[in-house]
Amino acid sequence: MQKRLLIVSNRLPISIEKNNEGYSFRQSSGGLISAVGAYLKGQGAKVFSEKLWAGVPDCGEDIWGLASLNHTGADYDFLPVFTSTGDYEDYYNGFSNSVLWPLFHYFPSLADYRPDFFEAYQRVNQQFAEKLSQVIHEGDTVWIHDYHLMMLPGLLRKKIPGITIAFFLHIPFPSAELFRVIPRAWQKALLEGMLGADLIGFHTAEYVSHFLKSLQLSIGLEHEGEYIAHQHREIKADAFPVSIDFSLFNSAHRSKEVSAAKDKYLAIKGDKKMIFSVDRLDYTKGIFNRLRAFEHFLTTNPAYIGKIVFIMVVVPSRHSIFQYSERKKKIDEFIGRLNSTMGTISWQPVIYQYDHLGFHDLLGLYMACDVALVTPLRDGMNLVAKEFVASRNDKMGVLILSEMAGAAFELTESLLINPNDVLEMAEMLCVALEMDPVEQGQRLSVMRERIERYDVNAWALDFFTQLSRIKERQKKFDIR
Ligand code: F6P
Repeated sequence: MQKRLLIVSNRLPISIEKNNEGYSFRQSSGGLISAVGAYLKGQGAKVFSEKLWAGVPDCGEDIWGLASLNHTGADYDFLPVFTSTGDYEDYYNGFSNSVLWPLFHYFPSLADYRPDFFEAYQRVNQQFAEKLSQVIHEGDTVWIHDYHLMMLPGLLRKKIPGITIAFFLHIPFPSAELFRVIPRAWQKALLEGMLGADLIGFHTAEYVSHFLKSLQLSIGLEHEGEYIAHQHREIKADAFPVSIDFSLFNSAHRSKEVSAAKDKYLAIKGDKKMIFSVDRLDYTKGIFNRLRAFEHFLTTNPAYIGKIVFIMVVVPSRHSIFQYSERKKKIDEFIGRLNSTMGTISWQPVIYQYDHLGFHDLLGLYMACDVALVTPLRDGMNLVAKEFVASRNDKMGVLILSEMAGAAFELTESLLINPNDVLEMAEMLCVALEMDPVEQGQRLSVMRERIERYDVNAWALDFFTQLSRIKERQKKFDIR
């Protein structure tokens, strides 16, 4: 049995909410939490004798102390990392989500290169390194996740040189041309930070090649295939498309709660067709273009007036950043206008919920809808697409998927669209709504088999296998 696994991410997998009885817990949102959380719950993670998840709680130390006591039954322990409110603001809302997020998702005009943001990012990464170095033992595996902590592998390597460190990026790595838009010293700090890991994982081969090209262009570091020699160590960069717990989604139809939720949504649907989408509120998700496409579809296909409903769930996210709060207002206005101009007293084209969605309702909606619309302008992977496919055990339903999502490389039997092409999206809606059930089943079967084969456990196993191989190679390969 392997020793301890330390998972490190900005956000802990639970969010704490105060209510009348005390505190309640909800799973945090985002692909990272769903994937890593699912892996830790499964059999695959049993190879580790102990698991610890480090991250910043979404409450202060006093509340964490009280609330975490009530949280039992997790498959791992928590290691809370506390930062000052000011530092967290500049590291999370600032450098992570107002520099790296927009730039890495190809929205360079939204990036705000403030030096104080970068300083806070360095400080918080350093705080993570301090906290972790207090608990790390020899033989531990440290798995660091995502763009908030790109400097952490390097900082930790300096403190404990012999340790096993892996890093996984859950968002796209942009083209080298775009990456070098960042001030030069920051490029160097980010890349050298990542190179502190032994294995660096990305969702797709494209992101790997962008990263390798950035090493050449930004810091003049060459590579041989996926291997990089840096500071007397050999490091590997490779693609591991993140996945889901296929069996959980595939068998969800057997759950009473999911069936009840499905029936509730089928009753709303009645004899109409139903389209469904769910995303965090984010400008990368293409929510406007999707709404515009739906409006265009209704205008050009009047036969569907009164005979279709679009259930759109938007999950609150990063609301203290202007681009997010502003978008919320605009989405509200768009839907209000669309419903009032095209709807009638007895029919509302868009049913809109701005809130978190529980697991049973999510599954009920996946199963009740005819078409799932997953149309981000840019997305590292997008697990909603995979979840929808896996939950359709009845082999019915159509996935319309953006070719700008990492998932499009695997889910090639979906109806692929360019999310900037509103007319194409509207046409594809027609194709989806009129698709013969046999074809729906054929397309879903191929995608379902693919996800089942490379589910979240296969993803993690693949990752850890490559990690032990690179550790073995490092022993043989003295590049000093
Ligand atoms: O899919 C993964 C992800 O996009 C992360 O990169 C991100 O941290 C998360 O989902 C959601 O964002 P946040 O943590 O800001 O709520």
